[in-house]
Amino acid sequence: MGLVFCCWLFLLLTLVSSAWSLSSDGLTLLALSKNLTLPSSIGSDWNASDSTPCKWNGVRCNSRDRVISLNLSSSGISGSLGPQIGHLKYLRTLVLTKNKVSGSIPPELGNCSMLDHLDLTDNFLSGEIPASLGNLKELSYISLGFNSLSGTIPEELFKNQLLVEVYLHYNNLSGSIPSTIGEMTSLRFLWLHENMLSGVLPDSVGNCTNLEEVYLLDNQLSGALPKTLGEIKGLKIFDATNNSFTGEIPFSFQNCKLEIFILSFNLISGEIPSWLGSCSGLEQLGFVENSLSGHIRASVGLLKNLTYLLLSHNSLSGPIPPEVGVNSRLKWIYLDNNDLVGEIPPNICSRQALRILDLAYNRLNGSIPSGICNCPSLERLILRENNLSGSNGFQ
Ligand SMILES: *[C@@H]1O[C@H](CO)[C@@H](O)[C@H](O)[C@H]1NC(C)=O
Ligand SMILES: *[C@@H]1O[C@H](CO)[C@@H](O)[C@H](O)[C@H]1NC(C)=O
Ligand SMILES: *[C@@H]1O[C@H](CO)[C@@H](O)[C@H](O)[C@H]1NC(C)=O
Ligand SMILES: *[C@@H]1O[C@H](CO)[C@@H](O)[C@H](O)[C@H]1NC(C)=O
Ligand SMILES: *[C@@H]1O[C@H](CO)[C@@H](O)[C@H](O)[C@H]1NC(C)=O
Ligand SMILES: *[C@@H]1O[C@H](CO)[C@@H](O)[C@H](O)[C@H]1NC(C)=O
Ligand SMILES: *[C@@H]1O[C@H](CO)[C@@H](O)[C@H](O)[C@H]1NC(C)=O
Ligand SMILES: *[C@@H]1O[C@H](CO)[C@@H](O)[C@H](O)[C@H]1NC(C)=O
Ligand SMILES: *[C@@H]1O[C@H](CO)[C@@H](O)[C@H](O)[C@H]1NC(C)=O
Ligand SMILES: *[C@@H]1O[C@H](CO)[C@@H](O)[C@H](O)[C@H]1NC(C)=O
Repeated sequence: MGLVFCCWLFLLLTLVSSAWSLSSDGLTLLALSKNLTLPSSIGSDWNASDSTPCKWNGVRCNSRDRVISLNLSSSGISGSLGPQIGHLKYLRTLVLTKNKVSGSIPPELGNCSMLDHLDLTDNFLSGEIPASLGNLKELSYISLGFNSLSGTIPEELFKNQLLVEVYLHYNNLSGSIPSTIGEMTSLRFLWLHENMLSGVLPDSVGNCTNLEEVYLLDNQLSGALPKTLGEIKGLKIFDATNNSFTGEIPFSFQNCKLEIFILSFNLISGEIPSWLGSCSGLEQLGFVENSLSGHIRASVGLLKNLTYLLLSHNSLSGPIPPEVGVNSRLKWIYLDNNDLVGEIPPNICSRQALRILDLAYNRLNGSIPSGICNCPSLERLILRENNLSGSNGFQ
């Protein structure tokens, strides 16, 4: 009797499950595809008659046939990402880069608690970044760059000690950088450029001792730069171009690893820091349009890898150190609109890399070095508004 009942139950379950054979993750994906418009080249393969979605385009499963990865980068997808995404409990990777996905990021995405790699770069997403993304405690990579996201960066998002890469650039984000930034102790890449962020760069950033790249350009950040930046020993790139940072450069590095250090178009005062002379790998130094004073240190000219030296529009005084003249890699030298005196280093073109030399609007005197006329790679030479003699052919 019991056996017969069991057989019946088994048969019934089999019938029911074959009528509804697609797994729950498969059903979730089909529900998502109602709003996320897949091109037929991909969608045709998302077949409701399959028992699992594990062979569908863009889908990967674990050994128990649960969806762990949905990667539909550059697939011609439009439409929007529905709240059903939150049902994919085992999802570790979500990549929708380079599509035309619009609408907002559903808060339910914060339910995908295993998510470790979230890449929605280069779409038409709008609305705010849901605070629920702060629930994604496994997240190590988030890229929402090149969208039209607005509102503030939720402070919950930064309360994460596993996040290594954070890319929120080219959006319309406003408000301040959350001070919870200091909790991202694994952070290596922080790209926040081209937004409308305001306020200070929080002191707690010094806690992110693994940082290598910080891009803050084209925001409205202000106040003093944090002294704590000096604690980030391996910092390679710091670009804060076009903000409203004020005051002197308060931090210093001993064994400096900086390769790109740019503070152009800010309100920085004081002198060019002497510790820059220890940044032996420095390639780009940019302080254009600030209020720097004092001399250009000889040690800057000695940086062997320096390619771009951009110091225009400050109040720098004294002579151009001869060391700048012998630097073999320098391609662009912009020292115009300062208060520099003395002569142009005679060998400024001796190593032939030089492409642009702009020394206009200073108080340089003496004669124009004859070697400049034979400088093979020189494309632009601007010397006007000095007190130079020797040749009239230049402007
Ligand atoms: C999904 O699409 C339907 C119909 O196209 C629309 O009414 C609904 O608002 C969309 N949902 C989302 C979350 O975009
Ligand atoms: C879906 O799969 C079934 C069974 O394998 C097949 O008969 C059907 O043609 C497929 N549908 C599409 C749209 O490919
Ligand atoms: C997503 O797919 C693209 C194209 O197949 C691939 O290049 C990329 O590495 C994948 N991304 C992830 C995180 O798996
Ligand atoms: C899913 O996320 C929404 C919005 O963040 C939340 O209200 C809901 O409780 C979550 N559901 C589950 C099952 O976690
Ligand atoms: C950014 O926000 C401003 C106003 O807050 C709006 O005028 C502008 O269209 C937005 N830009 C984008 C790309 O969303
Ligand atoms: C700095 O990081 C530690 C963990 O390493 C954390 O406990 C602390 O709250 C962080 N401080 C700030 C100011 O974020
Ligand atoms: C400076 O940044 C603002 C946004 O804060 C942007 O509108 C402007 O074009 C930028 N200026 C330059 C010279 O890039
Ligand atoms: C200078 O650049 C070269 C390659 O262009 C690189 O191999 C070298 O490590 C750099 N020097 C420093 C001190 O970073
Ligand atoms: C350049 O100017 C300085 C004073 O600023 C003067 O001592 C020097 O003799 C001048 N050099 C030449 C070549 O005119
Ligand atoms: C330029 O040099 C001449 C002669 O060396 C000097 O008389 C004159 O004052 C200088 N002009 C400026 C603006 O320094």
